Parts: sequence; C-alpha cells; structure tokens
Amino acid sequence: MNARRTLAFTLALLFDASAVGAFTSLLTTFKTSRISITYLPATVKPAPKNKGYEPKWKKKETLADQNGGIKDFKQIGLKGNVPVIFKQGNETRATVALAGQPLRDVATQADQFIKYGCGKGECGTCECLVNGQWIRPCQTNVPGNLAPGEEYVVQVKEVKNKAVSSGKFYSFRSFIMGFYNNLLGMVGFVKYRRAAKKNWLERQEYEDLIRQKTMQKKIARERSVEEDKNNKLSP
Ligand code: FES
Repeated sequence: MNARRTLAFTLALLFDASAVGAFTSLLTTFKTSRISITYLPATVKPAPKNKGYEPKWKKKETLADQNGGIKDFKQIGLKGNVPVIFKQGNETRATVALAGQPLRDVATQADQFIKYGCGKGECGTCECLVNGQWIRPCQTNVPGNLAPGEEYVVQVKEVKNKAVSSGKFYSFRSFIMGFYNNLLGMVGFVKYRRAAKKNWLERQEYEDLIRQKTMQKKIARERSVEEDKNNKLSP
C-alpha cells in the first residue's frame, strides 16, 4: 500500500516537473522567436513599465467634494459639538459628533473605513489609538468630558492587503504557483492520511478495551448471581 502511494506521489511530481520543463522550453522558444524579429522597424512598442496596482474604478465625487470640501458641518446638517478627527496614514477625515454617540457610527458618518471583526469588543480587530491608548471603536462612545473645542483624534490602523497574487492566467508565475500549490497539497494529503490512520488505530484499541471491560463485568455479574443461588440452596 505504501509502495503504491510512493509511486503515485513520484508520478505526480514527475508530471509537474515535466509540465514545468515543457512550459519553460515553450517560453524559451517564444523568447528566441521574439529576439529574431527585433530587426523589424520600430512598430514594436516598448513594454510599458510596471507602475504597480492602479484601480480601474474611480471614487464617485460627493456633493461636498464638488463644492470644495466640507466647510461648515452645521451647514450640511451635522449635529454635535465634539470635533472628531480620524487619521489613517496620510489621510485625515474630520466630522462632528455628539457626546455619547457610538464611535462606529461617527466613523461611518466621516466615511472612515475601520475593519471590524466580532463587533462586541472581544477580538481587537478594530483597535485604534486615542491619546496613546488603544480603544475598540465597535464598543466605544464619543467621550463627554472633553474641554470645549478639544478635538477627539482617532488614529486608525492601516489595512494591508495580505493576499499574494498567483499571477495572470497562464503567466510563468501562475505556472510556478500552481506547481507549488500542488506540492503543498500532496504533502498536506500525506500528513492528513498519516494522522487519520493513527487516530483510527487509537480508536480501535480503545474500543477493544471497552469491549473487554464490558465482558469482564458481565462474567463477574453472572458469577455473583450463581453464587447467590448456591448460597440460598445450601442449608
Ligand atoms: S470588532 Fe472585535 S473588538 Fe471591535
């Protein structure tokens, strides 16, 4: 069984390796063919430089943006006397709030994105820094003990995109990542099977033990019943 599994593993590895080899040779041929046509007149445009990620969408302008930003909060209908400032990286957003208003609502009102997790003040995903202290905006209200005109400044954590791109479809990177993921999958499969087998054997052993104990108890019970009978019969 083990030999068969090893054979399957080796075959899968060989398949992946040969696929990578085939793709690399294809790429080399492609590159060579490109090199051979470089004498053509300058109709071939130089490849654009990689400028990093540029979103294709554009944020819609609000009425305030169109009119040069918010100049007076009261004029646009916001109520409150506590100026709240959200800072995240180089961006700053300002609004006004009422004392006791949930900070979560104030952040939404100011168009400030905060990443939330549990929403109950337990996980700490939303933690922000205020006056050198960590607070959890999902469960914090705007304080009412600030001096008149004092700003409530909230430093929001920057959110980074942790996802690693596997590259464009059929790019060299996507091919390598595919091979890497296959390898991870195979290793994971072997590990999982081993753990499952160990678990199964342990369970079997435990069930045998229970069966044995039950049988011993049954025999002991029958013996005691028989002894009782004999005691009653004897004068
Ligand atoms: S979202 Fe979990 S602590 Fe705020």
